Amino acid sequence: MMSIPSNPTSVAASISPTGTSIHDRFRAARRQESISDIRQPRILHPLENEGLRILLLENISLDAVAAFRAQGYHVDHSSKAMSEDELLEKIGSYHAIGIRSKTKITERVVKAAPKLLVIGCFCIGTNQVDLQAAARAGIPVFNSPFSNSRSVAELVMSELIALSRQLFERAYELRTGIWNKQSKGCWEIRGKTLGIVGYGHIGSQLSVLAEAFGMRVLFYDVVNIMPLGQARQVESLAKLLGESDFVTLHVPELPETINMISKAQLAQMKKGSYLINNARGRVVDIPALVDAIKSKHIAGAALDVFPSEPGANGTPFDDQLNSWASTLRELPNVILTPHIGGSTEEAQKMIGDEVAQALSRYLGYGSTVGAVNFPEVDLRAITAEHINHIRVCHIHKNQPGVLKQVNEALSPYNVEKQYSDSKGEVAYLMADIADVSFKELPQLKQRISSIDANIITRFLA
Ligand SMILES: NC(=O)c1ccc[n+]([C@@H]2O[C@H](COP(=O)([O-])OP(=O)(O)OC[C@H]3O[C@@H](n4cnc5c(N)ncnc54)[C@H](O)[C@@H]3O)[C@@H](O)[C@H]2O)c1
Repeated sequence: MMSIPSNPTSVAASISPTGTSIHDRFRAARRQESISDIRQPRILHPLENEGLRILLLENISLDAVAAFRAQGYHVDHSSKAMSEDELLEKIGSYHAIGIRSKTKITERVVKAAPKLLVIGCFCIGTNQVDLQAAARAGIPVFNSPFSNSRSVAELVMSELIALSRQLFERAYELRTGIWNKQSKGCWEIRGKTLGIVGYGHIGSQLSVLAEAFGMRVLFYDVVNIMPLGQARQVESLAKLLGESDFVTLHVPELPETINMISKAQLAQMKKGSYLINNARGRVVDIPALVDAIKSKHIAGAALDVFPSEPGANGTPFDDQLNSWASTLRELPNVILTPHIGGSTEEAQKMIGDEVAQALSRYLGYGSTVGAVNFPEVDLRAITAEHINHIRVCHIHKNQPGVLKQVNEALSPYNVEKQYSDSKGEVAYLMADIADVSFKELPQLKQRISSIDANIITRFLA
């Protein structure tokens, strides 16, 4: 909020000899104050900070450990996952937990965690957590869905060239002792048309990289999206398939995207074109693709994702897993990779940074922006000079009458800002109240917490 100098007449009395008008000086003073407002948000802390304890499992990055410790949190860190029984024994004393994909947070674990405020999945997926049980207990869950977009886009660039130059076939031949130098059927990607299906985080990154290589970029998306560079959105999948030399898929797995590339769509693709799938395995009907490659209608493919994928490294990728696996493995012009699209050191570091920041923002500021199971609520910062402002974070059951009761409790104070939203059974209200004395806080907290629908009430100051 912008504040006006307390004594404007003193500004008027000091007109500078350079002729700066009072209005200029007044505006400059206000601008200065507004800039310092923006630049100096107050650092908030949970009031009940008797030393928040964070449990980080599965070798979460040491940068995240250091970042939490720097904020004064107690961190226990382990390179291993925990079983449900281990969690049931340990989780009770922690306020936050960070996991990757191996630790399962079940409803039993959530129920055994009375202090738990937040869960961080330091990975892309969140199906290792019972999201509904967590939401019902007032626990937002954060992940990092887009930190590996660049890594996937770069892998696609490499696949475009590898397919177009028959790189894997030549490299395999030479490994087996066969010298086979040839240019027939090998192409530059410059000047070719790339068709991107799904122009989201990955598709749009890829669009920029492909244009830098001199490709013409078309995309198809269910949403109208502003194209980057010279890319062009087309109105139908059929049009994209009919015009592209390479088709690359970047859509989520949804009922309408399962088998979205099947026999009919492969037939619509140009003869001699290539298909790349780094999205989700079920988006492509693989037996239909095998037929289209065997008939030489499709020149080759790169597949990073599969309908069924092995659970662990070393597990066979065979016909027991996917009935067509051995046929696919025999096709020389198909690049097969074990779901490595997003697997880079950079992506891992970004996941660590992003999820650690989301946990810190929630613990310290109450923000649930980016939570996967929770209403997304945030307020602009309390600025540094507002030392008597308190942030109220009230998670409650989504039922009528709660806001009235909370606002009655807040009515003795000036509510500077307030926002609430709901998702399913849970609602979340944040309010910043002014000029509160610390002595009044226990009573105020008691009043809000005793509202019937209360799940968790926290004060940040
Ligand atoms: N191979 C890997 O390691 C790896 C890594 C990261 C992401 N992924 C997968 O890549 C895919 C895309 O990821 P993203 O981050 O770009 O997602 P995103 O949500 O940012 O973008 C997806 C885009 O697809 C569009 N879309 C949805 N349904 C569509 C349809 N029926 N037809 C056309 N467009 C449609 C959406 O409007 C959106 O623009 C996801 O399936 C994700 O799981 C794979």
